[in-house]
Amino acid sequence: MRPRVICLMMTSPDGSLHPSRWTKSPDGSRADWSALYEQLHKSHNGKAWMVGRVTMAEISKAEAHPPSGPFDVRRPHHFAKPDAASFAIALDPSAKLHFSGDALYGDHVVVLLGSDVPDSHLAELAADGVSYVVSQTSEMDTGAMLDLLGRELSIDTILLEGGANVNGRLMAAGLVDELSFVVAPALEGKRDSDRIIEFGDEGLAGKAELSLISCDPLGHGAVHLRYAVQKPSE
Ligand SMILES: NC(=O)c1ccc[n+]([C@@H]2O[C@H](COP(=O)([O-])OP(=O)(O)OC[C@H]3O[C@@H](n4cnc5c(N)ncnc54)[C@H](OP(=O)(O)O)[C@@H]3O)[C@@H](O)[C@H]2O)c1
Repeated sequence: MRPRVICLMMTSPDGSLHPSRWTKSPDGSRADWSALYEQLHKSHNGKAWMVGRVTMAEISKAEAHPPSGPFDVRRPHHFAKPDAASFAIALDPSAKLHFSGDALYGDHVVVLLGSDVPDSHLAELAADGVSYVVSQTSEMDTGAMLDLLGRELSIDTILLEGGANVNGRLMAAGLVDELSFVVAPALEGKRDSDRIIEFGDEGLAGKAELSLISCDPLGHGAVHLRYAVQKPSE
């Protein structure tokens, strides 16, 4: 079964993706709001978190280090640690990410890759102990790949943690079930700046509907906003 996807983000009321550009507040600091975000991450007790390629490249800074061939690699998937307690998932259609081990923050790494990923890259990931899934369609079918992760790794909930691109693409594909935002008392306000959810020139009108679940104060001037995401009614 496809895991439930909760998009968990920290943002400002103007939807900014970049806390480093925010105004200050007498109510709290960026460190306070980040700590609240981390608490929420933990409280979800999710077995997996997932980010886009750009965000993962800020976390895993390893360089390419393919082993020498010939390569004997498994397709379309290789699960190095199917019984891991928790997973860190990255969407990397063009095989740009590299890792220096099989875990990040203690969570086993799983990479979702495009169909034309070379064998040398799969061999590198396998040698690092990293799990992967190769798309079976030329356009990555993220829904089918998440189904597979649900089945093979018993993942029932995934925290989708940005950035804007992956959030927008999964929203547009109808793969996000809930939005869960820490909204901090700060503003960015820059023209054309990045927001926490983006879907190109098309935008998301007609692709999803939000319904309020709850809005709770968290302290330090921040609120926790939760919305259920539904398919648009006819
Ligand atoms: N405020 C917060 O809480 C927060 C949280 C996380 C990240 N961030 C910030 O967000 C910024 C990065 O965000 P971003 O929007 O530029 O990038 P991103 O969403 O992290 O990554 C986007 C990339 O992921 C791949 N991708 C995503 N969805 C895909 C899909 N459905 N199918 C195939 N490939 C997919 C593509 O890789 P390719 O380009 O290789 O095709 C795409 O360009 C960073 O500055 C980070 O610090 C902020």
